[in-house]
Amino acid sequence: MTGDLLEDSGKPMADPSSDPFWYRIFLDEVHARFPDLPGDDVALARSLHREAAALSDGLTRARPLPGTRYLDETPHLLAYLIYYLPANFVRSRALFRSMLRHARAPLPDVLEVLDIGCGPGTQLWALLATLASPPTNPEARTAAPPLSQVREVVYHGRDHSVAALRWVRRIADRVAASGHPAVPRVTLDLENGPWRKVLEPGPGAPHLLVLGNVINELPGSDSRLLDTVCAQAAATRPGGFTVILEPALKPSAQRIQELREAVRTHPDLEVVSPCTHQEPCPLLENAINRKHWCHQEISWDRPPWIQALEARTGLGGPRLALSHLLLQRKGISPSPDAGSKRMADRVVETTAGPQVYRAVSPTLKASGTFAVHLCGPEGFVEAMLLKRHLTEQNRPFRQVRRGDRVVLQDAPRRPSGQLRLDASSCVDVEPF
Ligand SMILES: C[S@@+](CC[C@H](N)C(=O)[O-])C[C@H]1O[C@@H](n2cnc3c(N)ncnc32)[C@H](O)[C@@H]1O
Repeated sequence: MTGDLLEDSGKPMADPSSDPFWYRIFLDEVHARFPDLPGDDVALARSLHREAAALSDGLTRARPLPGTRYLDETPHLLAYLIYYLPANFVRSRALFRSMLRHARAPLPDVLEVLDIGCGPGTQLWALLATLASPPTNPEARTAAPPLSQVREVVYHGRDHSVAALRWVRRIADRVAASGHPAVPRVTLDLENGPWRKVLEPGPGAPHLLVLGNVINELPGSDSRLLDTVCAQAAATRPGGFTVILEPALKPSAQRIQELREAVRTHPDLEVVSPCTHQEPCPLLENAINRKHWCHQEISWDRPPWIQALEARTGLGGPRLALSHLLLQRKGISPSPDAGSKRMADRVVETTAGPQVYRAVSPTLKASGTFAVHLCGPEGFVEAMLLKRHLTEQNRPFRQVRRGDRVVLQDAPRRPSGQLRLDASSCVDVEPF
């Protein structure tokens, strides 16, 4: 037991960087507030399968719900809490990990966060889980300082649902009661209002602006929306981030692509992810490419009640899809000690010719070959490796997944544009 933190009871404390720590907090609060519903997680989820299916339908298919205060209605709120909260928590954690890997300097002691369309605080919990155990930077040497030293998160949560904001406070109380020293302290500033109000500039510039699954619920016909989001991203502190998460649906991914185009030429903003470059998006190039939309996938070790729910609704599965955009406000130079430079920069400095791509397909295996479709500064490109050219250094190419960041070195380009890896090629894959 040496090294474990102990509760007053002498039991080891649950690990706040693990997903189950957070799932327990979410579900315990649901059980506490709805004592008439089944007290067992799986039975609770089964009892809510119709609500979960109806919410999914209302948000993604028939779509009567966006624009309404659907979370103020208990069946929708319950469905959100038991399915969408944990699923979006897992998606958001992947984004915050990616954000920390791209940070050019450690985050400040007190982190100001503005979360627009915060719902029950999904992105706040994912951020705290990430900060409880920040990823080490690929550049880190033994004595490199951590990427995060955040002691306190000042959270400005904005939403038009009163019930959702109430749940932010309830979950925050439970997190505080857990008293885990690895979880930064949270100060809440919650405000209720419609999007035009919540998107107005706040009193101070945040370090982090978050829009989680909300752009697709805002009026698409309002041309001011993307301009406003862009202006808000540019109003973060120098070096600050904007994290935008959306469902992997064609209309919402396309809105993100439009926003990315607006940001690409903005003097104060840089697109950090999913794009590995600042060139025009190849999806906007021609009618054939426009049929596709940019999305990534992450694996999800689903807890039993989620699996039970999925069995009854057909929702979800072991891979979670998402669309996203991670932006950084320019104006901060890398700290030489932070050990936080981007992997691509590192490789470019030390070796000739590496190229950084985002995988837009998994590794496709055919007899004698591996192929991956990639997106990079030259647009879409196919990379291929013959099995007989497999080596220790290019082995990661066998198991690329959609959304992974792929660094290729010594991958000669054929006249057709195809990248043809061989035994001298090096492949580095950073899972999304
Ligand atoms: C799908 S939920 C996302 C909640 C949370 N960010 C997450 O990812 O789990 C969308 C949130 O945006 C809020 N919302 C939608 N339209 C809004 C509007 N016009 N003004 C303010 N909030 C809005 C909803 O109330 C809801 O909480």
